[in-house]
Amino acid sequence: MSGRYPAPDRIPAGLYGAARQDLVVRAYERFVSGYVRASTLVHRRDVVAKPVDPSLTLVVRERRVQARDENVVSLDLMALDGRPLLPWHPGAHLDVTLPSGRRRQYSLCGDPADRRRYRIAVRRIPGGGGGSIELHDRVRVGTALRVGGPRNAFGFAVPGYGSPARRLHLIAGGIGITPILPMARLADRVGLDWSMTYTGRSRESLPFLDEIEAFGARVSVRTDDEHRLPTAAELLGDLESRMAIYCCGPAPMVSGMLVALRGVRDVEFHYERFSAPPVVNGKEFEVELASTGEVLTVPADRSALDVVRQARPDIAYSCQQGFCRTCRVRVLGGTAQHRESTLLPGEREAGDMLICVSRGDGRLVLDL
Ligand code: FES
Repeated sequence: MSGRYPAPDRIPAGLYGAARQDLVVRAYERFVSGYVRASTLVHRRDVVAKPVDPSLTLVVRERRVQARDENVVSLDLMALDGRPLLPWHPGAHLDVTLPSGRRRQYSLCGDPADRRRYRIAVRRIPGGGGGSIELHDRVRVGTALRVGGPRNAFGFAVPGYGSPARRLHLIAGGIGITPILPMARLADRVGLDWSMTYTGRSRESLPFLDEIEAFGARVSVRTDDEHRLPTAAELLGDLESRMAIYCCGPAPMVSGMLVALRGVRDVEFHYERFSAPPVVNGKEFEVELASTGEVLTVPADRSALDVVRQARPDIAYSCQQGFCRTCRVRVLGGTAQHRESTLLPGEREAGDMLICVSRGDGRLVLDL
């Protein structure tokens, strides 16, 4: 393993917390196709997510229900004229602007070899920020969506570019299967020694279950209703020296594994959360909304975005993890404590702040 795992009180705020030396098994390098090599080059250039011009318009060409509870749909997006799209690599996502103007990020879960379509999948989340409901209820075959990307903040390294890891273990929690599925397909295609644990509330809730189970004995499916809530150790399985683990799931699941892996050596752990990470070492502060003078208190354990959303439900946000820049706000007064590595120095000097992760001391006056 490269380096130590962060202690629970130092869980990184962004997806880059897993930025460790890349993967996998040099012995398999010769099996990897030119397609893999080309897409890896794209991935490595793009591993730090950058601002993307969301001007590409794609059309929904196919919409499919992907879980037996009917709460997950996949959308196939294609160019109006069917022209080839930019290449991508497992772990990449799209920035999608919904008809309402909301921006959301969705992992690509289709086949990178199919250059004419991007596939995303979305779970309907009642009580969330409304993006998933909108996508389920308003986006149909024929709907045009503005799209930025692909970008990759969860890079899946492939032979030829990695550390000497000898085995791969994939872990997916529910809709966290979306970035993991292309990794599994690629691992299978190039003959890696790999395994996978797929977990969720019930088999009915698990998207792409049939395809995952087609991988056979490599995959262990464990659901809360049949097996109870899994422990981190159960999800991680047997740890081996020179093993690489890729995980996508809810924040508590990822945090549990970070704790379980503390002190473990010779194992790489790469992860992506699909919900906001916990606030670590937070202090209470205030935000003033300049347009109305309203003052809101941000408790030590909540983000400014979380609090501002209650007063301004339409405020733009997406990743809630400090890398997509959607929640960028100009600070008109007070001093921001930046907790991301996304903004450029000039942007910080100009007073910009990502309110999903960054905080303040005392009172911040926000241009809202
Ligand atoms: S919501 Fe993505 S950076 Fe804040």
